[in-house]
Amino acid sequence: MTKHILLIIGGGIAAYKAAELIRLIRKSGMTVRCVLTESGAQFVTPMTLAALSENEVHTTLWSLKDEAEMGHIQLSREADLVVVCPATANLLAKMAGGVADDLATTLLLATDTPVMAVPAMNVRMWQHAATQRNIEQLRSDGITVIQPDEGAMACGEYGPGRLPEPETIMAEISAMLVSPSLTAIGTQSTELGHNPLDGQPAFAPDRHRPLRGKHVLITAGPTHEPIDPVRYIANRSSGRQGFAIAAAAAEAGAQVTLVAGPVHLTTPAGVMRVDVETALEMEQAVQDALPADVAIMVAAVADWRADSRSGQKIKKKGAAPAPLKLTENPDILAGLAQHEKRPGLLIGFAAETENIVSHAEAKLAKKGCDWIVANDVSGDVMGGADNSVHIITRSGAEIWERLPKPEVARRLIAKISEELA
Ligand code: CTP
Repeated sequence: MTKHILLIIGGGIAAYKAAELIRLIRKSGMTVRCVLTESGAQFVTPMTLAALSENEVHTTLWSLKDEAEMGHIQLSREADLVVVCPATANLLAKMAGGVADDLATTLLLATDTPVMAVPAMNVRMWQHAATQRNIEQLRSDGITVIQPDEGAMACGEYGPGRLPEPETIMAEISAMLVSPSLTAIGTQSTELGHNPLDGQPAFAPDRHRPLRGKHVLITAGPTHEPIDPVRYIANRSSGRQGFAIAAAAAEAGAQVTLVAGPVHLTTPAGVMRVDVETALEMEQAVQDALPADVAIMVAAVADWRADSRSGQKIKKKGAAPAPLKLTENPDILAGLAQHEKRPGLLIGFAAETENIVSHAEAKLAKKGCDWIVANDVSGDVMGGADNSVHIITRSGAEIWERLPKPEVARRLIAKISEELA
């Protein structure tokens, strides 16, 4: 059956590449209808898009003709996939906030069709905490956000933010249409899909899905160790870094199991989450999830638990405080390093305030893992939006600048992908 694409073109210099994308969509046998935003029209003309798509181009919410013929909501509903390309920082922010102030954003809010956003913007805009927050929000809303390319930009700067080549975007479109029910919630199929049109492989595994077919196991958040029915031992871990790594791994095409301690965070799209409370439960869930190709132990596991858990609330008795006897919890990471199903790449985290590299090297040897991601927690890292990390491997140490946690996650996943390749 012929597939229909609704292509929303935002206002950025990369809009010219949308013209080539339309050509590729048409060449693959699909139909395409274009919606051009007001700023998009500063970069490409409706005439070009109409000629290439062989369809009328829609630009305004207030077209009496369009309303009479099909209704603007119908426009997005009749498509099999809505593609926003280029998705500017402004358009992404509006989408994340549910703003509907023009035809493009109204369609995006009204649609129940899977949506793919292909961002393109200046590197600083891409790295800005606000944009990263919006991307995280969109991904947890089930929108597929394609990772931009890195390279020289039209503005003269260098870094991530470039629109991927039209052939790559076309491959992503084919992949989504192979398995729309899965991709609608952001999950990638681990099988290589086939183009619904010609039965050929839809696309070869590419650098946008470098972890396709790999199982990545991640722990995140704190553990709570009960003392009695109302009290527990805990720590300040928010789980944000571990959740961001899970999101980045899923985005890279991995099958992800996220064993999460008690945190108030939304499950990233395409991630299989197992909720646990205590270190013992976390250890069991980790072992149940094996085998895995990669394990990333981000959780701040409580080192101790109460020796015995009181069935009743412990009452104050006179002036003496209640005695609290502690027992050490098993080290889940060290246990995994010795396990017969040890993941091929085992990564631990370490929270350090001083002598970061030497402490982390000692931890690498002690725990028997392959890499340690050492957090410099001398500032407000615990629970904060940014992270400052050192990556310690057997071949040396890398120091990364302070970055938003989702960016740390993406770089770590890129490094893991390189290692597995
Ligand atoms: N870890 C674990 N099980 C534990 C304790 C820690 O799996 N019972 C893992 C964490 O998930 C993390 C790494 O081991 O990957 C952290 O090791 P840990 O020795 O707790 O280091 P720090 O938190 O840095 O603590 P310390 O300063 O006590 O060394």
